[in-house]
Amino acid sequence: MIRVVFNQKGGVGKTSITCNLAAIGAAMGLRTLVIDLDAQGNTTHYLVGEIDAEAYPAEAQGVAALFKQTVGSRKMARNPDSFVWETPYENLYLMPSSLALNGMEKELESRYKIYKLRDAVDKLEAEYDRIYIDTPPNFNFYSKAALIAADRLIIPFDCDTFARQSLYILMENIIELQEDHNPDLELEGIVINQFNSQARLPGELVAELAEAGMPIFNSYLSSSVKMRESHRDHRPLIDLAPSHKLTTQYLDLHAELEVTAAKAAA
Ligand SMILES: Nc1ncnc2c1ncn2[C@@H]1O[C@H](COP(=O)(O)OP(=O)(O)OP(=O)(O)O)[C@@H](O)[C@H]1O
Ligand SMILES: [Mg+2]
Repeated sequence: MIRVVFNQKGGVGKTSITCNLAAIGAAMGLRTLVIDLDAQGNTTHYLVGEIDAEAYPAEAQGVAALFKQTVGSRKMARNPDSFVWETPYENLYLMPSSLALNGMEKELESRYKIYKLRDAVDKLEAEYDRIYIDTPPNFNFYSKAALIAADRLIIPFDCDTFARQSLYILMENIIELQEDHNPDLELEGIVINQFNSQARLPGELVAELAEAGMPIFNSYLSSSVKMRESHRDHRPLIDLAPSHKLTTQYLDLHAELEVTAAKAAA
């Protein structure tokens, strides 16, 4: 099961959702890999903290190194699993990102390397029960590579008017990508993030999406300062605050995802 979390709008919760769902699955015993395709490296930072740049030069790290070896002769190509790191959490593994991804994008694009992530993930799927891919806030080479590599798409929605506009543009892009590259990609659902039940607008926006026929997960994530603390401390919610309200909402969301996973496997 390979899930991509994507929305080209920035700051909607892609990284938070990727890491927390992955950490919950791992805590439940699922061997889980997170691939960080965003050069900002927020997922990498969240899960493993500061990286020693001398010990791990940018281009020798995770995703950048994986893509780098697809350029030129591939005689010495390494197994994709060799670019995966352990995290402090049992069952949770990370293919880290690095700033080097920025400098490589044009060359990878001009050399048609867009399917290379899918090749790698196809191999990795045998090793992991769940793979989650975090993406940058752009419809660029890396997010497209992720959408081509994945089976399922989760879209975070942060309940503002711009988010709605951005969602309609996103849906058009996704349909085109499905037609051109990955007909098997399924929209698993939209995650309502930073939901405020006291205000009118979020409820109205969500109702509008539902009317438009968008699949929306039943478990909404509310806004909580715990999320920021969790990023700051490099500890996913299930580790930092297992009985917090937001963690409970994440557990419910995870349970919904596992129901769809079980149906897909049946
Ligand atoms: N439920 C929440 N409650 C409060 N703050 C949240 C919540 N979800 C995310 N945030 C905060 O919003 C900010 C953006 O979240 P996050 O980094 O997960 O979004 P993103 O979509 O990955 O951003 P980018 O597009 O830059 O990659 C972070 O500071 C995070 O702590
Ligand atoms: Mg992010």
